[in-house]
Amino acid sequence: MSDSTAFFIKKFRENTDTPEEPGQWYRPRPYRNAVVRFRDCSIYDFEERRDILINEAGLNAFLFRADKIPGCDLLSDSGTPTMTMDQWAAMMLGDEAYGSNEGYFELRSQFAETFGAGWCEKDNTSGGSSESLFLFHQGRAAENAFFSILARQLAAAGGGSSAPPSDGLMPELKSRIESKLNSNGHADDLPLWIIPSNSHFDTTQGNIEDKRMIPLNLPCREHLENDELYPFRGNMDVEELDNLLEHEKDRVPLVYLTITNNTGGGQPVSISNIREIRNVARKHGVPFFFDACRFAENAWFIKKREDEFWDSSIRQIVHEMFRYADGFHISLKKDGLVNMGGALVIRRDGDFSKKFPHFKEGITDHQIMAEGHPTYGGLPGRDLKAIAEGLRTVVRDEYLDARIGQVVRFGTQLYEAGIPVIRPVGGHAVYIDLDRFFDGTAGDDEFKGISITALLLIAGHRVCELGLYAFGSFDGEKEIPPEPRVNCVRAAVPRLAYEDQDLFSVVEAMKVLADNRDRIPAVNVEYGRDLRLRHFKSRFSFSG
Ligand code: F0G
Repeated sequence: MSDSTAFFIKKFRENTDTPEEPGQWYRPRPYRNAVVRFRDCSIYDFEERRDILINEAGLNAFLFRADKIPGCDLLSDSGTPTMTMDQWAAMMLGDEAYGSNEGYFELRSQFAETFGAGWCEKDNTSGGSSESLFLFHQGRAAENAFFSILARQLAAAGGGSSAPPSDGLMPELKSRIESKLNSNGHADDLPLWIIPSNSHFDTTQGNIEDKRMIPLNLPCREHLENDELYPFRGNMDVEELDNLLEHEKDRVPLVYLTITNNTGGGQPVSISNIREIRNVARKHGVPFFFDACRFAENAWFIKKREDEFWDSSIRQIVHEMFRYADGFHISLKKDGLVNMGGALVIRRDGDFSKKFPHFKEGITDHQIMAEGHPTYGGLPGRDLKAIAEGLRTVVRDEYLDARIGQVVRFGTQLYEAGIPVIRPVGGHAVYIDLDRFFDGTAGDDEFKGISITALLLIAGHRVCELGLYAFGSFDGEKEIPPEPRVNCVRAAVPRLAYEDQDLFSVVEAMKVLADNRDRIPAVNVEYGRDLRLRHFKSRFSFSG
């Protein structure tokens, strides 16, 4: 080897070395485009978009036609990935048998491979339902089934008490539970069941409330601090959890953890926090579940930010995370890298299975009535193949470097353009802090997040309000803001779909709004203010 080429190799290597955070530098993506989709609308169609927005969509981003969005559609990172050629190829081999198709067995092995041995093992010895893996067409269908059966089995067991929350609870925690009881219209004679989490996603919250249970968010204190210094702002407050279980464990059927914490800014949860929660839950005899939609992205943050794991592979970290859970449900539309799919997985010998020995039977019955059968969960066999392949891809280090690097660069550009984003930036989305965005401007309309999403649609891009409108409620007279307060607009980045240039054009449009924030109009709610899950359904008009 000549000295001169060795010299250049050394230089090239230095040039591509990974800095601490991936926000500032460029490396080629570890893939290239294999198929592209041309738009048949143009960024210049501003008036047409305004027309559709006002007259068809009622200023609701969910109701705006996607084919009229020429820029980035950042409404959700869910079900929006570009699938890989390996996934498309796998789909061609899909087995569309009516029961127990080949894809199911491949997927079951892949779950054990991805999440660790011990998951999805079949048990032919115990009688009753032997399955651990229950497929659903998406995450919320799994949640709905889970909480329906849980509520039914709790009612059948005859436990639970309607007594008010214990006086031993920390005062702030007690008052949060009481205000939830009031806002849910919880009848006095109903048994009180509480499901704690770092933060429940809105569908999870909706499914829990639908079964007359109380979803309780216990985010860590740093959750509210907007500071680069907190690497794991998705964590749960373990002291509050311990206090809750100390006094109310009989009314807590299980503890939840959402990884990453979507509602809390897409922030990761540390292994130390997972271990602490496991210990506290076990001390009080309460099972522990994950809402695992973005498990691989969470693992990437653990690798980068928790010393113990700097040298571990993502797969090893995922195994370590899942070692502590008794079960999980997952929307495979995120880190499954597919357009549709979900699952519920219950550890065969876990605390949950021991506490609810007839649960799997109940889920199987539910699935036969609602989704087909646990072995396909309303999905074509070919989709199971795509999920298995997606689960192989998503734990590749170079994929996650590129994926999260892109989201962080997007957030960094917004921040450098003077737009207040939640920092550190999370794994799948950038959250713009509306309280700081509008700080010091005239007018205090609560729903300026809706105005921002509407104006950005006219600019040609779609984001989502996840704040006072999405998470608050209206009691007929006044607004009840979310507790703890969340007031953001979220720009969720679809996986493998956009290039930096696309995202940077969103930054430029956002900067126009930020530079003219005094002129952003408020909105009137024309329909749906008092409805549940109202942000999906409401209609608005500009008030000025
Ligand atoms: N849990 C979390 C943490 C989620 O983010 C979602 C969906 C679900 C459950 C429900 O899964 O959509 O397959 O039914 N989140 C999407 C989002 C919709 O945009 O954040 P699903």
